[in-house]
Amino acid sequence: MTDSNNQENKKFKGDLGDYELVSTQDGSYTLHSEYFNESCHSLSGAVEETLFNYINGCELPDKLNQNELSIFETGFGLGIGYKTTTEFLETSSFEGKLTFVSTELDSELVNFAKTNTELSQSSNYPQFKELAFNNSPVPHFKASKNGHILIILIGDARKTTPVALDRGLLPKFHAIYQDAFSPKRNPFLWTVEWFETLKSISDKTVVLSTYSSSNSIRKSMIESEWLVQNRKGFGTKRTCTRAKLTGKTDEEVKLSLGRSPAASLRDKDI
Ligand SMILES: C[S@@+](CC[C@H](N)C(=O)[O-])C[C@H]1O[C@@H](n2cnc3c(N)ncnc32)[C@H](O)[C@@H]1O
Repeated sequence: MTDSNNQENKKFKGDLGDYELVSTQDGSYTLHSEYFNESCHSLSGAVEETLFNYINGCELPDKLNQNELSIFETGFGLGIGYKTTTEFLETSSFEGKLTFVSTELDSELVNFAKTNTELSQSSNYPQFKELAFNNSPVPHFKASKNGHILIILIGDARKTTPVALDRGLLPKFHAIYQDAFSPKRNPFLWTVEWFETLKSISDKTVVLSTYSSSNSIRKSMIESEWLVQNRKGFGTKRTCTRAKLTGKTDEEVKLSLGRSPAASLRDKDI
């Protein structure tokens, strides 16, 4: 977080165990989760990584003239995805309405953001502290301001997302920030079934972006009919992945997946 003072080494307890704030090279903070034994962001820079992987990865600069922009995030964490998105939109030509939907297993993280993270005073967008809890149709936090909406679905995203879709809580999404922990630590959100769910909530113009470039997750995407592109990675990562529902899969990706013995991930195998 960029707006929190003296956060280094700050620890707190969540529903899933202990968390520790860790500083990253761009001066912003990330969170280390004891339960997943992983940090939420690259130590090369949490905000810079968010700009690279999600704002630019999902091609938001090309979507600024839309009347409505709907973004889905797999994993709320510290709320850096939402905060960086609203800061980007406020300094851009965007005049439309934002709907930002995130998902989070550990509701204590939302409470942490509510008390520790503020958007700028003049922000046009809902603040975390304005989030109110509602239990129906799935447990979620929601805040609205100036026609912009922020929703955080609480619980396992594999269960909450399809129910929220069926019950009319979700729009069709133009961008997906696939920001779960790594496939090794959290394989459940990298399966064929999860990418099928993401397809079911997507507009045909959707752009999905993620830091992972593993052959296994790319095979999961292709088996659920996403079209996969290779992209240069952030920080120490050589490559990452962008996926769409129109266009085509990169030839080099097809060739390299054809040579790879890695298998796609399926719920039944985890
Ligand atoms: C890498 S962090 C997300 C960082 C976040 N996007 C940010 O900008 O601060 C991944 C998050 O996904 C959450 N998560 C893991 N498995 C989940 C699941 N099955 N459903 C919902 N959230 C989950 C974790 O609790 C963690 O907060």
